[in-house]
Amino acid sequence: MKEGNFRSGGRRKFLQDAAVLGSAAALGALAPAIVRAQAQKVKVGLMLPYSGTYAQLGIAIENGFRMAIEESGGKIAGREIEYVKLDDESNPAKATDNANKLVTGDKVDVLVGTVHSGVQAGIIKIVRETGVLHISPNAGLNAMTTTLCAPNMFRTSFANGQVGYPMGKVLAERRVKNAVTLTWKYAAGEESVNGFKDAFAKGGGKIVRDLTLPFPNVEFQSLLTEIASLKPDAVYVFFAGGGAAKFLRDYQAAGLKGKIPLYGAGFLTDGVLEVPGVAAAAEGIETTLHYGEGIETAKNQAFRLSYAKTYKLQPDVYAVQGYDAAVLLAAGLKAVKGDVANTKGMIAAMEKAEIDSPRGRWRMSKAHNPVQDLYLRKVVGTENKVIGVAAKALDYPPASLCKMA
Ligand code: BEZ
Repeated sequence: MKEGNFRSGGRRKFLQDAAVLGSAAALGALAPAIVRAQAQKVKVGLMLPYSGTYAQLGIAIENGFRMAIEESGGKIAGREIEYVKLDDESNPAKATDNANKLVTGDKVDVLVGTVHSGVQAGIIKIVRETGVLHISPNAGLNAMTTTLCAPNMFRTSFANGQVGYPMGKVLAERRVKNAVTLTWKYAAGEESVNGFKDAFAKGGGKIVRDLTLPFPNVEFQSLLTEIASLKPDAVYVFFAGGGAAKFLRDYQAAGLKGKIPLYGAGFLTDGVLEVPGVAAAAEGIETTLHYGEGIETAKNQAFRLSYAKTYKLQPDVYAVQGYDAAVLLAAGLKAVKGDVANTKGMIAAMEKAEIDSPRGRWRMSKAHNPVQDLYLRKVVGTENKVIGVAAKALDYPPASLCKMA
């Protein structure tokens, strides 16, 4: 993206106007206009799924985001936040139109979204074209922080491969010989599985079969029958939200639990253990993720307490990512004293920000993706208990694949 694409409208217009009027008196007359602009609210577009299998993920992200803003008194750098919400339905076909509606129609100052990697591809197209500031609080599309990276795009979550890779590493270190993979057939699942396979193959592991079904289909029966007949040493899956809850129950109901060990990207068991029947079905399952409920830091404990009090819900990884998105935005806005039109100044501050997150401290890679620890977790009751660090400060796929314009 060219530098000229950055939206510095307010500030640039002011300087042009001042040059035309060309006098100190004119500048004095315009000063109240600046004060008015600073007093205006910062418009945040929330493009998230509020319906379908990822609805709870969208809600948790919004909750986390709002909580961080409320913790600083509902304002950042003296400016209130105005939200414009849009349900993207996890529908890639509507993604560019939806993103365009927020950016060009509603003229949001920053676009925050989304969950689904296919929808994220549509957002990337629009934010690269317009230069609007963008923060992804979930969708892990690898390309966002590799081949399609851009100065105005940041992620506070993960890259899909970054979560799969450590699980492959753990199983390879345990000398597990072979595995079946299973996922929804779209970018997130495929990239998660590829990350898993990359590390698993390096350690000598073999893939027996790659199984898929279309997103958001939850008819798992024939696939479970196939797994039962293949009898692999392990199964690695990517599912999330409502689909993950159903898969865990179906795996148990098919009689596979305890017979064929099930592993996954941590989305399999995050945010679903309170759903009736799921905790028992998931008991003992190991996953890798950049968060776990029991992280014993003052920051995580305070975050969990405050979230539970505010929303009468337990927070999950999605809430953490939404919270961190607001913390990152605040770092940018504070650096430019609330002048949201100063995109370049905000980007410079956001690149340097070190986020004190409930997941642990993390920083941005050169590609604007978190460099972070990936935990090994095990389901115990309704908790994803952290039992180790599967990969320390993991930058994967490597930021060197990103060439910023
Ligand atoms: C994705 O589509 O990128 C995604 C969705 C849910 C959880 C994790 C990743």
